[in-house]
Amino acid sequence: MFRDAAATDRDAIGVFWPHPERVDRRLAAAADGTETFLVAVDPAEGTVLGTASVRWGGGCDDATRPLLYGLAVRPELRGRGLGSALIRHVAALVADRGFAEISLEVEAGNEGAIRLYHRLGFVTAGPHLHVWRSASATGTVDVLILHGRAARIRPTPTP
Ligand SMILES: CC(C)(COP(=O)(O)OP(=O)(O)OC[C@H]1O[C@@H](n2cnc3c(N)ncnc32)[C@H](O)[C@@H]1OP(=O)(O)O)[C@@H](O)C(=O)NCCC(=O)NCCS
Repeated sequence: MFRDAAATDRDAIGVFWPHPERVDRRLAAAADGTETFLVAVDPAEGTVLGTASVRWGGGCDDATRPLLYGLAVRPELRGRGLGSALIRHVAALVADRGFAEISLEVEAGNEGAIRLYHRLGFVTAGPHLHVWRSASATGTVDVLILHGRAARIRPTPTP
């Protein structure tokens, strides 16, 4: 089950995504409508199992495609399809808002995630040197930019 993230999810998300200041930024962006910040939760327990965000204004140098970012699943639950389900859910939101394509940035060495994105139909658009800034530092990281056709990635409707 997917729902919008809330401030009360901050600690639960911190268990598997240890960037509290970025969680706060994602919550603020969701509050002003520039992003959608989703959590996957266990329907019985309400436990937070994973997250994904969509930045509707796009990523670096590309305001035409919404950006999927912040995808993460609790380590002990990886490899069971939850990451794929989050990506498909996000792609459906993007297609429903009328966008043809979705983009994402993935660290060039994150082979497992890149394999997953390619399997779901994303294609590599090219390398990119991503510049990040926090309150106290800046840095760069080599990433790949991937593009996907949102309507093709969305879940197949149940009959
Ligand atoms: C990437 C991630 C969200 C996938 O979630 P998941 O629930 O394991 O995904 P699924 O079960 O749907 O798909 C499994 C695939 O994910 C990838 N994967 C599995 N473990 C992974 C890991 N530790 N790190 C990165 N990718 C991984 C593999 O491609 C795997 O397929 P394979 O078993 O055929 O190799 C999850 O592994 C994770 O949270 N990784 C750490 C954070 C991260 O790298 N996020 C992506 C940032 S762009």
